Amino acid sequence: MDFKGRDFLSGDDYSNEEIMHVLQTADVMNEHLKKKENLDLCHGKVLATLFFEPSTRTQFSFQSAMLRLGGTTLGFSGPEGTSVRKGETLEDTVRTVEGYCDVIAMRHPEPYSAMRAADMVSVPVINGGDGPHEHPTQTMLDLFTIYKEHEKQFKGLNLAFYGDLKYGRTTHSLCKAATRLGANVFFVSPETLEMPGEYVKIAKENGARVVETNDLMEVIGEADVIYTTRIQKERFPTMEDYERAGKNYRKVDKLMMYSFKKDALLMHPLPRVDEISVEVDNDPRSVFMKQAHYGVPVRMAIISLLLGVV
Ligand code: CP
Repeated sequence: MDFKGRDFLSGDDYSNEEIMHVLQTADVMNEHLKKKENLDLCHGKVLATLFFEPSTRTQFSFQSAMLRLGGTTLGFSGPEGTSVRKGETLEDTVRTVEGYCDVIAMRHPEPYSAMRAADMVSVPVINGGDGPHEHPTQTMLDLFTIYKEHEKQFKGLNLAFYGDLKYGRTTHSLCKAATRLGANVFFVSPETLEMPGEYVKIAKENGARVVETNDLMEVIGEADVIYTTRIQKERFPTMEDYERAGKNYRKVDKLMMYSFKKDALLMHPLPRVDEISVEVDNDPRSVFMKQAHYGVPVRMAIISLLLGVV
């Protein structure tokens, strides 16, 4: 398997074996982190984090990953203060930054923006979210969470997606990769926020059992993982559309969790707003903070594989 010099734009670009290799590499990184051992694999290497959209987890876990690998980082968390504000294009921005770094991690509001950037530069480009399209490194840490926390792992796993499946890029990337690895998928959303047909089709082509419903209770007793997502206000055309969709979303609370399987995992890519009540934070099935923390070993694995240092 050769990862050196490749981009990380979509899980579609990686085989099942390669995805499993990323997870196994992340597991090794995780062991080093647990022992508080920093590595020196990326000494002298620079990661540029170009975040044209807000981010806490993706941006900082990429930076933490590179620092823990012994490298350094530069970048921005919003176009304010950069020449993008003077009208510089994405293409010219990345061509410039290429000269200052060895690998780029970026987030941008437009679908396929990371692909456009990758076409312009020779350093590896990692997609940290391109509008409502994809979020492939989130998918890797989501898969890693299941790999570490659920003994059933992927084959025959019943994965329920709950929330905004129309604009939720994390659900788009994860449903493609998880069904390829053998999972079944339940798509549960308020009306108007259903999973786009192209992803339903891919899941079926991958051999998954697919259930589409507006009522989580219909599938809750069977779900091994409940993957909740935020209703993303910023993606709706109008406030009325947002409010209409949000009205039909039932928050996950203690009462609802009585219906979950005893060994189910409650996941969320975060940030949460009002999807999961804080009263369930201490339930052992709530693994969403662990999931966010797994972003570091997973991104350490991705960076070091693309730079060819492991
Ligand atoms: N999960 C995720 O992408 O979080 P951020 O938007 O904070 O990066």
